[in-house]
Amino acid sequence: MTKTTMPTASKTEDIKKDLHRVALAATSSHHLMSEVAKLLHERMLKYNWVGFYMLEQAPPAGQPPVLLLGPFQGAMTPHTRIPLNQGICGAAASTGKTVVVDDVSKDSRYLACSVETKSEIVVPVFVRGKVVGELDIDSHFPSAFTAADRELVEYCASLVGKHLETSRS
Ligand code: SME
Repeated sequence: MTKTTMPTASKTEDIKKDLHRVALAATSSHHLMSEVAKLLHERMLKYNWVGFYMLEQAPPAGQPPVLLLGPFQGAMTPHTRIPLNQGICGAAASTGKTVVVDDVSKDSRYLACSVETKSEIVVPVFVRGKVVGELDIDSHFPSAFTAADRELVEYCASLVGKHLETSRS
């Protein structure tokens, strides 16, 4: 299988088709998240860590939910629980907006996962208009995430959101 540095339109379409197949075959949303992380990590050369964080569904009484590490590919991260007011991850989940950071060393919100990480993208996952989690990707390359990458990662997040929507209905 060939690895891709920058997704060309046809490469992105190929990957989307494979993702669509993966979504149809997934036996659960957790399974789908594992397969999406695996596929992106294998096929996209600059995606060095790919993982999901999901909002805690039943936080202890009186406590705000935190983001819990879900299925991922890449080295283990020290950040298994991220409060919504911390990190790039907290920023994306609390605003419901995609965050792209071209140089993590210049972003004071950044929580380091690996010293090799240079850039990051975090895309929220929505169920019925509400943020339920996010897809986080780290790269060892600066400015790794172009508009085409953003579109691809947002497509992945929407596939997972749709799957969760039907399985949580
Ligand atoms: N860098 C993230 C933390 C998660 S690790 O990258 C896997 C952040 O700043 O929220």
